[in-house]
Amino acid sequence: MIQKVTTLLLFGATGDLARRMLLPSLYGLDSDGLLPPDLRIIGTARTELDDAAFRQRADEALREHLPEGFYSQGVAERFLSRLHYVALDINEPEHFSRLAQAIGDPCHGVAIFLSTAPSLFKPTIDGLAAAGLACPTVRMALEKPLGTDLESSREINDAVHAHFPEERTFRIDHYLGKETVQNLIALRFANLMFEPLWNAAHIDHVQITVAETFGIEGREYYDQAGALRDMVQNHMLQLLSLVAMEPPGDLDSTAVRDEKVKVLRALRPITAADVEQTTVIGQYTRGAIEGAPVRGYVEELGHDSTTETFVALKAHIDNWRWRGVPFYLRTGKRMPMRESEIFIQFKDVPFSIFASRGATTRPNKLIIGLQPEETIELRLMAKTPGLDRQGGRLREVPLDLGLANAFSEYRRRIAYERLLLDLIDGDPTLFVRRDEVEAQWAWIDAIRAAWAEKGMTPRPYAAGTWGPSAAIALTERDGVTWHE
Ligand code: BG6
Repeated sequence: MIQKVTTLLLFGATGDLARRMLLPSLYGLDSDGLLPPDLRIIGTARTELDDAAFRQRADEALREHLPEGFYSQGVAERFLSRLHYVALDINEPEHFSRLAQAIGDPCHGVAIFLSTAPSLFKPTIDGLAAAGLACPTVRMALEKPLGTDLESSREINDAVHAHFPEERTFRIDHYLGKETVQNLIALRFANLMFEPLWNAAHIDHVQITVAETFGIEGREYYDQAGALRDMVQNHMLQLLSLVAMEPPGDLDSTAVRDEKVKVLRALRPITAADVEQTTVIGQYTRGAIEGAPVRGYVEELGHDSTTETFVALKAHIDNWRWRGVPFYLRTGKRMPMRESEIFIQFKDVPFSIFASRGATTRPNKLIIGLQPEETIELRLMAKTPGLDRQGGRLREVPLDLGLANAFSEYRRRIAYERLLLDLIDGDPTLFVRRDEVEAQWAWIDAIRAAWAEKGMTPRPYAAGTWGPSAAIALTERDGVTWHE
């Protein structure tokens, strides 16, 4: 029987992710009665704090980050009483012993969540193991970034697997916790109508856009990563694999992840021979977002940098289903609006009976909006009402499956709620398996090597625009326009 977690050990408990996402998510689960009644949450970080001070900080984080009106005194009191804190310096073995003491019997229902810099993963895991905290049944969740390339990701995975086997390793990609992302599986496999059309014979191309309006917000890590490694390597390739995978035989963790990894392995490598035609990189300069002036990346950072804050690329999946269908991916900071979506353009009708009447048909489109709103929209052609005898007036109209309207009685959850609950319940389906991460890195490393070989550096784009103009040319060359 899968054991429920009764102790959640949170490394990086005073950090940004914990304050903005993890504590509010755990509060959300508690508020809905989904946390095991006896669950304790032990926070740990270097800062010296006692339980009371940690609870105080957590309370402030909840008040600041929970959606308006969601904070309730009663739930907060119950939730905060679950929190404990142990200060820990990973270089001090006796601090790990202190932690082991606070946990008590470590083999009973413990999950560990590492939300720290990845350079600390190995020493932390070694420290845990030495203190007897890596015994069988303990689950290990890891927050990204999992390395900076294939080699470093392997080192991290090896260090983890020295004590925690794959089935107890939970690699987080928070996009998999998003409701609309999971809904993609329902849309594809709980409806009959899409699957027969879901292939190269009927789909012209796919676009995946993740646009953000903010800059780097003081995150030093970003300059070592850049948009390709920060967003494409993980979130966008996961989205792509869910769009492109074959129907799994089951919804369990093995079947779903087996299908995703096949897609990732079928990605055609981008090489120096075609990298200049298939990828565009950019870095924002000063500009304006929603009318307010903002600084350029280098000014924000305080030093020169050739890190890309925007990337657009054209990917191909070399398999029977997707042969010849381009997948255009684009992500950037300081874009004109926050918008993430998957856009699927079907092919046009093979012959239009309306053409002789002067009307044009436009290909159908399926648009899955991830944020800011969770939406699903199917664009169909319809006759414009009226007595026009020529029958020549057609218009594209949306069939709107807006989830907010269809499910208005449901609270919109933070992606981490789903993932933390699955960690507690021991279900790894929405976590990324090692072979997936490695396939993702292998594809990304080849792109970076090709950039280096060609000496490609980011082109400037003004903050508040959709990236360098070359990104527009990337699709226009194929007769495709980015959906905006
Ligand atoms: C993180 C990236 O993984 O995802 C950030 O490191 C990015 O740079 C964030 O801003 C985007 O997440 P979301 O859920 O806001 O789209």
